[in-house]
Amino acid sequence: MQNFEFYCPTDIVFGKNAEAQTAAKVQQYGGSRVMVIYGGGSVERSGLLKRIEENLTAGDILFKTLGGVQPNPVLSFAQKAVKEAIDFGADMVLAVGGGSVIDTAKAVAVGVANPEVDIMEYWDKGRTFDVCAPIGVVLTIAAAGSETSDSAVLTIDGTGRKGGAHSDLIRPDFAIMNPELTFTLPPYQIACGVADIIMHTLERYISYTEDNVFTDLVAEALMTNVIKYGRIAVAHRKNYQAMSEIMWCGSVSHNGFTGLGRGKEFSAHKLGHVLSGVYDVTHGASLAVMWPAWARFVYEDNPERFAQYAERVWGVNAGTAEERSRAGIRMTREFFEQIGLPTNFSKLGIGVLSDADIEKLADICTANDSKKVGVFHPMSKADVMAIYQSVNK
Ligand code: NZQ
Ligand code: ZN
Repeated sequence: MQNFEFYCPTDIVFGKNAEAQTAAKVQQYGGSRVMVIYGGGSVERSGLLKRIEENLTAGDILFKTLGGVQPNPVLSFAQKAVKEAIDFGADMVLAVGGGSVIDTAKAVAVGVANPEVDIMEYWDKGRTFDVCAPIGVVLTIAAAGSETSDSAVLTIDGTGRKGGAHSDLIRPDFAIMNPELTFTLPPYQIACGVADIIMHTLERYISYTEDNVFTDLVAEALMTNVIKYGRIAVAHRKNYQAMSEIMWCGSVSHNGFTGLGRGKEFSAHKLGHVLSGVYDVTHGASLAVMWPAWARFVYEDNPERFAQYAERVWGVNAGTAEERSRAGIRMTREFFEQIGLPTNFSKLGIGVLSDADIEKLADICTANDSKKVGVFHPMSKADVMAIYQSVNK
């Protein structure tokens, strides 16, 4: 087990009617003028936004609302929101929505606390975070885990570059998590969330670190649970038990807990982010395509590790380590297909790409072959192209 430090201070209010505690939590974390950020309208249609507004009003909290965050959120929207938040005098940012809204809210909170800095510097130039306004979340989808994570993923407009900035300073102060708020999700979106939740643990699980027994058991239990309840949630979106399980697993899967004591891989995320940055595909769907492709490319580097995953998560007991590895990767891909997710570019909706298109993706991913992608098997531009080509059908 490697040395680690784990700091995950998000105050979680979980369960039915949790959103009734929004104003109390805002006050607890020092908010009196709140910038409320939301997405394309699902929270208006469900009535959630209205309930939050009434709750804040009843708590004598001033607020300003700004909707319009798109999935795969862009930095320019966050820049506009920072300006509005500063003009309003916001002292807290409240996200009402999913990962895209939360990530935008995180960027706005950084901008509010650093009014003299263009937030582009943090996402494009790697500027270090040193102060951030308080962030609250009312979560509406089990997926990205941004409600407890230390990252915010934004696309820099017009570049195809989508990437995360990381700091414990941008972990939300509180997260309100009522599984019933997810009951309006389309099944496809639930399935994308399920894939993302599994990946946040699986992309920490595949490594060379050994003797990390407790973290392995936690990771295997989480993935097994999300596979079981993910199937139920996709088929029955109003199943409270299933939605509760995947919502809580979603937060734990990306707060760092399931990877303590070993490094982080995230190659499929990097490959997928490029697809989302260029073609605006849904994050979880991009992972469903890219992880099996990546795994097939690299499993021979450490088949014992992939075999352990196959054995403990998918019950594959027979065969050599290589055979069990391949079975585990195949069963992962089949699970994605069973819950309605794509496993190649055509099914992802971007068609069969030309060689030039593939090369462009690989150039973005590797910064024109100037940096390797991944830790488990550092990949060159040629490797990245081969992986993309393997699902280009
Ligand atoms: O925009 P609205 O109208 O609200 O609709 C959203 C959106 O269309 C809809 N939705 C959300 N809750 C709903 C709902 N529709 C009906 N009922 C509800 N209760 O779902 C769509 C997707 O929303 P989005 O916020 O994009 O989903 P998700 O939570 O999957 O977030 C994805 C984003 O998070 C990033 C991804 O890259 C992507 O940009 N990630 C953020 C991470 C982080 N900050 O730690 C880690 C992840 O790996 C990921 O990269
Ligand atoms: Zn993810």
